Amino acid sequence: MAAAAPEVAVETEGAVGIVAINRPAALNALSISVMDALLEALGGFDRDPAIRAMVLAGLPRAFAAGADIGEMKHIADSKGADKALSLHLARWDKIALLKKPVVAAVSGFALGGGCELAMACDLIVASETAVFGQPEVQIGVMAGAGGTQRLTKIIGQALSMEMNLTGRRLTAREALSFGLVNRVVPVESYLVEAKKLAQLIAAQPPLAVQAAKASVRAAVDLKSSEGLAFERRLFFSLFDTRDQKEGMKAFAEKRKPVWSGQ
Ligand code: HXC
Repeated sequence: MAAAAPEVAVETEGAVGIVAINRPAALNALSISVMDALLEALGGFDRDPAIRAMVLAGLPRAFAAGADIGEMKHIADSKGADKALSLHLARWDKIALLKKPVVAAVSGFALGGGCELAMACDLIVASETAVFGQPEVQIGVMAGAGGTQRLTKIIGQALSMEMNLTGRRLTAREALSFGLVNRVVPVESYLVEAKKLAQLIAAQPPLAVQAAKASVRAAVDLKSSEGLAFERRLFFSLFDTRDQKEGMKAFAEKRKPVWSGQ
């Protein structure tokens, strides 16, 4: 008998690391084992100097239809939830804390923990069939991995309330109009477009990219004055890099820079 396909597939294209969830029978539900495999793969790319950007993809029918309800339905009370799920929820934060940029390639369902996973990434390329939602209220709970926090900061309170309180889903076009995704493309090309965006990022000087990512992220968590101070520190730190010397020299010499990543 052939070995079962792994739940998470990993490959590279040049300096881009691609991680794809592959659990079609459960619409890519994010079980502990799937999230562990995702973190191992993404964490490995984050530490690999040959990789400069990542793509996190699902399947055309589902990016991920949420955390695995089968793993939660037996939990008896809040203490049990804390014990069983605290570490699991931390996996979403660990993805948000990766140093290198991650482009989510989202098609089909991105619901509950799936929507939260897409938001833990840095950019989202959506197919025309993508559907975003926080439907946890419909199974008696609420979002627990950023669906009331990240979503509200991205799309605002009115719509976030509606999504979290009624389970309203957003189409890809709506998600674009509310600033949740970067672009909407035909389903046939969402993965290719996500890879192209990742390649474009990977072609930039990596230390500057990582500093810019950290600084944009800080805009969400820090108050304005702290965020500006953090930005300034990172900006100055880039003058310690070879890529700053190369970038500015190449500009003056009217040639393309060659990035060393140092
Ligand atoms: C486990 C899931 C699942 C999930 C789908 N499946 N979503 N299994 N966890 N989150 C399984 C179904 O049980 C079914 O398995 C198979 O995938 C196909 O799903 P269907 O329901 O038959 O497909 P369809 O009728 O097309 O409906 C698709 C759907 C629906 C609208 C996406 O599956 C759905 O509502 N899923 C749950 C969405 C949700 O509530 N997500 C939030 C989860 S809580 P079988 O074996 O029957 O074929 C969450 C908390 C996050 O994410 C906090 C972080 C821990």
